Amino acid sequence: MKTWLITGCSSGFGQRLALAAAQRGDQVIATARNVKSIEEMAAPFAGRMITLPLDVTDAAAARSAVNKAVETFGGFDVLVNNAGYGLYGAIEEGTPEEYRPMFEVNVFGLIETTRAALPVLRRKGGTIVTMSSGAGIAGGGGGGYYNAAKFAVEGISEALAGELEPFGIRVLIVEPGPFRTDFLGRSIIMAAQEMPDYAASSRKHYRETNDGNQAGDPDKAIAVILQAVDADDAPLHLPLGPIAHAIAERKLAAFRRDIDAWRDISIATDFDRP
Ligand SMILES: NC(=O)c1ccc[n+]([C@@H]2O[C@H](COP(=O)([O-])OP(=O)(O)OC[C@H]3O[C@@H](n4cnc5c(N)ncnc54)[C@H](OP(=O)(O)O)[C@@H]3O)[C@@H](O)[C@H]2O)c1
Repeated sequence: MKTWLITGCSSGFGQRLALAAAQRGDQVIATARNVKSIEEMAAPFAGRMITLPLDVTDAAAARSAVNKAVETFGGFDVLVNNAGYGLYGAIEEGTPEEYRPMFEVNVFGLIETTRAALPVLRRKGGTIVTMSSGAGIAGGGGGGYYNAAKFAVEGISEALAGELEPFGIRVLIVEPGPFRTDFLGRSIIMAAQEMPDYAASSRKHYRETNDGNQAGDPDKAIAVILQAVDADDAPLHLPLGPIAHAIAERKLAAFRRDIDAWRDISIATDFDRP
């Protein structure tokens, strides 16, 4: 039996993961900004699922959720940094009022939640699951701010994987393509400023045509995440769904082409040795 601390459980992946873990007999600390939104979900699992308020931008609330988890279940084995939202629009269209809060949630919120959880996880090891994205694998026009936030998530997670290995803590970076959650609905903000010059790279159309039509089934995604958390040989990177896999393959091939094409020129940069 595992004990999970999950952020952003009011809908989507967080909600489904909390339910799936509780349904198989695990213990869950389900958290959400508005704790009332998750009370009904937890009701059938009294004693095995507790609900706590956690806005991930509030570091004190993260510490208090961790303390409550220790008080109730003696700790937890899996931290799931799931809370997040997107900001679409060209870089020139976005404003600090739009992009800074997005970084506060997706990046600094994840850092604070992780920092609060580490003293507990380091005691007996465990797993940190971070919800990155296909957008964390490769950048694309119209999604640069979200790309930047998820790239930060990838960098932090890769560094954590190395630094936490001696403590028996594994990191699983989940990189979903489009899945049918609330994400393209209420969890995407479009930059208010729309510049006609960027019409070609605008994501507005992408969101309107894809919301509700995403090919990805979030319940199947959760089944894969559970399998990976249980496995002894889980990967560090877990692209989810065929679109995320295609993004990863394209990125690897393009990276390989860049490295090879300029290798002789770009490698000749060390001081000459006598
Ligand atoms: N679905 C996809 O296609 C997709 C693809 C790649 C990556 N992802 C990632 O998957 C994660 C979950 O998204 P989802 O697809 O499940 O979308 P979702 O159904 O919209 O869920 C997003 C969750 O994040 C929570 N959240 C937002 N800001 C928060 C904050 N400050 N503190 C705590 N919780 C906060 C939301 O809570 P409220 O109810 O309080 O707003 C909600 O529970 C995100 O990190 C997202 O970037 C999703």
